[in-house]
Amino acid sequence: MLNIIRVLIDPLHPARVRNRYNAFGWRYNAAMSGNAGLERAFETLHAATTGAILDVGAGAGRHLSYYQSENAYHVLELSDTALMLFANRLEARDGQKPEVTLEQGDAQAWRGEPESYEGAMLAYTLSTMKRPWTAVENIAHTVRNGGAIVILDYIGQRDRRAPLWIIKRNAVYDPTRSLDTLIGDAPLALQHSEPIWPEPSLNYPPARLCLFTRH
Ligand SMILES: C[S@@+](CC[C@H](N)C(=O)[O-])C[C@H]1O[C@@H](n2cnc3c(N)ncnc32)[C@H](O)[C@@H]1O
Repeated sequence: MLNIIRVLIDPLHPARVRNRYNAFGWRYNAAMSGNAGLERAFETLHAATTGAILDVGAGAGRHLSYYQSENAYHVLELSDTALMLFANRLEARDGQKPEVTLEQGDAQAWRGEPESYEGAMLAYTLSTMKRPWTAVENIAHTVRNGGAIVILDYIGQRDRRAPLWIIKRNAVYDPTRSLDTLIGDAPLALQHSEPIWPEPSLNYPPARLCLFTRH
């Protein structure tokens, strides 16, 4: 009963977020125009590390073409619809396919094998989490010492034109949330950061691409 009330009052409850992406997932790739820095994000991650890569909140896989066939990717995704669409897209990909494994889970509650990945990608994934720093700590725990993590998101941003319901659903639009707050106690050192400007037609604030090394 208490859990039902929690789900009802909290727009960032994982069950609510999962349902939203289950409903929206079908339209997600078509609704997003441009690659929103995803190509640049994967280029940055692959330049820093190769091998086993964890992709958190991969959605319906609009960035699948940036996966390299010589790497192995593990997708951790909350929405079952997104995972199904991702699998279909992977199936349809031409040429040599990378090795990809799919797992449904909430990155805020997930505990993977320590130091089992060379790198991790979190692209536009933290925005809808209540405790994004917990997810970042969990992910950092699974990346080997010296490995790389890329976060691409609207860090510390607040789009003042956005309606309140959007702001409530997107924790990262909170202007008080600095990069330090987002990282929490994760052992990450910032190596590089750059703004990513969206398509002008989207009228969004700039996102930020950050490359960290795990220490
Ligand atoms: C805005 S989409 C981004 C998808 C993809 N990374 C891209 O840029 O196209 C966010 C994705 O993160 C997933 N997600 C949200 N919260 C999550 C969580 N706690 N754990 C894992 N995935 C989550 C959603 O289901 C959704 O597919």
